[in-house]
Amino acid sequence: MGGGISGKIRRAVCPGSFDPVTNGHLDIIGRSAALYDELVVAVFVNRTKTSLFSVDERRDMLAEVTADYPNVRIDVFQGLVVDYCRDNAIPVIVKGLRAVSDFDYELQMAQMNRGLAGIDTLFMPTNPEYSFLASSLVKEIANWGGDVSALVPPLVSKRLAERARLREQPTTGGDEGS
Ligand code: PNS
Repeated sequence: MGGGISGKIRRAVCPGSFDPVTNGHLDIIGRSAALYDELVVAVFVNRTKTSLFSVDERRDMLAEVTADYPNVRIDVFQGLVVDYCRDNAIPVIVKGLRAVSDFDYELQMAQMNRGLAGIDTLFMPTNPEYSFLASSLVKEIANWGGDVSALVPPLVSKRLAERARLREQPTTGGDEGS
């Protein structure tokens, strides 16, 4: 199926933390899905970074909000993204660029990944509507009860509100206090 003029299936991976997925991520996912036969959205398991949502929660939210894209699949990976690409026969990494400030680090990673394994990176400029958008800001706003409904899909907005409510619940009987 698919495969462009060469008959080969054109695959790409969109890696990230997705803690949680935002409308900015969805914009990049939707546009990339239109360019490739198969797009894998791969959640990176980063043991050195604390996340709000577990890997399973992030994967499940992604699966739900990308359900309308038949050629998008969600996966989870640990280790180097180039190893994931090699193991899954994926020649291209897609990265969204929000602003020039993203560029330095992304360029460095793209050149390293190309040098390490010959894996290319496609930079896709985000829709300017989302150039300020970051999962970290969304989490902070939601944590303080702010409205994030224009920034994330409704399901994610709901999950963030649930998390914020859980944190508000008073703890019983101890002096743990944090
Ligand atoms: O959403 P994020 O946190 O900006 O995503 C960063 C991610 C996961 C895409 C990046 O850290 C990554 O590719 N990590 C996997 C480890 C790796 O391959 N690092 C790059 C070495 S050049």
